[in-house]
Amino acid sequence: MKYTFNLLVFAMLFSITHSVTGQTVNYDESKVPNYSLPDVLKTNSGQVVKNSKEWETIRRPEVLDIFTKQMYGKTPAEQIKVSYEMLLENKKALNGKATSRQIKMSFENNGKKVDALLLLLLPNNRQLTEKLPVFVSYNFRGNHSTINDSTIVYSYNYGLYTEKGHPFWERGNQSSRWDYDLLIDRGYAVATMCYHDIFPDKPDFKEYSVASLFSDYPNSQLADDSWEAIGAWAWGSSRIVDYLQGVPEIDTERVAIVGHSRLGKAALWAGAQDERFKIVISNNSGSGGAALSKREFGETVKIVSNIKPAWFAKSFNAYRDNEAKLPFDQHMLIALMAPRSVYIASAAEDLWADPKGEYLSGVYASPVYNLYNLKGLENTKMPLYNKPIHNNIGYHIRTGKHDVTSVDWTFFVQFADQQFAR
Ligand code: GCU
Repeated sequence: MKYTFNLLVFAMLFSITHSVTGQTVNYDESKVPNYSLPDVLKTNSGQVVKNSKEWETIRRPEVLDIFTKQMYGKTPAEQIKVSYEMLLENKKALNGKATSRQIKMSFENNGKKVDALLLLLLPNNRQLTEKLPVFVSYNFRGNHSTINDSTIVYSYNYGLYTEKGHPFWERGNQSSRWDYDLLIDRGYAVATMCYHDIFPDKPDFKEYSVASLFSDYPNSQLADDSWEAIGAWAWGSSRIVDYLQGVPEIDTERVAIVGHSRLGKAALWAGAQDERFKIVISNNSGSGGAALSKREFGETVKIVSNIKPAWFAKSFNAYRDNEAKLPFDQHMLIALMAPRSVYIASAAEDLWADPKGEYLSGVYASPVYNLYNLKGLENTKMPLYNKPIHNNIGYHIRTGKHDVTSVDWTFFVQFADQQFAR
């Protein structure tokens, strides 16, 4: 506790040089520039939308277009052929509590194929006729990392990222991030996939990504608004929902997406584009996710847009060291979820992701929820640690560092129970 306190005080008092990027990073609230956020309700032509219909027909399409053209890039409309192969079903997963299914999803176009491996867990303790709500969530280190279970097949592209024999190949090495027991006990199904299977997060591996399947690839990549990794991960999440629509046990009216960190950014972008996600949860998503860029606190546009391989469209580079010029900010991304539920989770020690900036995005997205008579985050005062706010916009700040823990999942499940009226 004392340690945490000291760390926070240290970080808040100083601007420090980030060891990896060599950039000066501001952690001093008093050095946050004066910024003004664009009014989410004000249209490009200067009118303020006054009801949900105007939001949906006028302003929402404009905001979606802004994020498409200036930040995440365009998701191609071309349909890619997909086939599914059930590799394995185990009715005794999780000590008999769950059934696991592993499905190979093969995306094919123009003679080229990309395979991705989905792991689906269904609670066994359910009525035969009952349809299950589901959490869709990518994992970082392969399906094998989420649970210590020898039946789990290794995700296809994980080897491109981490050499064999590395401790990350151990089964269950990241199981602390996957509280399957909690989810299954509470009657939720879970669908997870390694994000590298969709787009390997490593320079020069685009050829293995789904992006390489589209007919205009690679020429399309030259465009300023061409999608990059985040766009592709978002696309892949929607393909998981396509598959789930054919699973009789799943209630596709109750699909939640959860993403941590870079995958929290991708979850928000997926939720913005695909309204089948009824709850959209970003955990510690930070810069380029839930955090307001204009605060320039912690990770900045310059730093996050410099990641290799690129996560954002090239057009976003225009705002490096130039946040004041951004004609949008991340509260507008959060607003795109309305009237569906959205959740922003921060961690107290994760100043790199700017917890306050993450929270304020929810606050400034709230006027759109209010158009539907729904409740967002009502004031700029952040809640205490581990005391969630569960309105139609949810928020919590957990004690501890950048991570996804059982505490986060506990709050997500409470929120989902409430929003899905269970
Ligand atoms: C880096 C990056 C963040 C990102 C994080 C992660 O820290 O700067 O923007 O969220 O990686 O995904 O783990």
